[in-house]
Amino acid sequence: MINIALPKGRLGEKVYSMFEAAGYECPSIKENNRKLIFENSDCGVRYFWVKPSDVAIYVERGAADIGVAGKDILLEYSPDVFELLDMNTGKCRMAVAAKKGFHDNTDKTLRVATKFVNIATRFYADKCRDIDIIKLNGSIELAPILGLSDVIVDIVETGTTLRENDLEPIETIVQISSRLIANKARFRFKADKIEEIVNNIKRYGIKND
Ligand code: PRP
Repeated sequence: MINIALPKGRLGEKVYSMFEAAGYECPSIKENNRKLIFENSDCGVRYFWVKPSDVAIYVERGAADIGVAGKDILLEYSPDVFELLDMNTGKCRMAVAAKKGFHDNTDKTLRVATKFVNIATRFYADKCRDIDIIKLNGSIELAPILGLSDVIVDIVETGTTLRENDLEPIETIVQISSRLIANKARFRFKADKIEEIVNNIKRYGIKND
């Protein structure tokens, strides 16, 4: 049995449909209930719905053999896992944004609000820019509007949240997409089955655009 951590929510449903198309269906997962674990012993898979930002923790610690996590989480927390496949979904970018017309005064420390402290710190360290990080947990866009920060480092997907709050992207830090990851020890132990899953998802599950 392969234990698979899927990110709960709309992205997770899309990701599940890729596993389904690859031959690892589990019809009970589509029942409208609050269960978190679903299994199909015929194709040897057990799925868990996990908070998206927790998938890498389940996989790193071996509670799941494989899982699907955003590249943003992998870059931010650097979990000790194998990254096996770009799922070509959950696409967005990590960007710096600010109020329209913002001009960076490099004589001053730049106040940066973000959920992604490590990504932001590395990005500005590479530029030798002195910053003050303000760690927030959500609604990051509020920070520059209320004068809590000069800029934000956050996920931009459609750009709607920025636009509707009179902010604009200034610089892209990195492109993001969902990745199939594996626990290192389990990958060695269950290599044949995990590689079979990866190949079938590559062949039948991923839609290239
Ligand atoms: C993310 C991100 C932005 C928004 C960007 O928030 O933090 O707020 O999506 O998407 P858009 O460019 O399509 O508007 P999320 O919904 O994950 O909630 P959060 O506030 O908890 O980060």
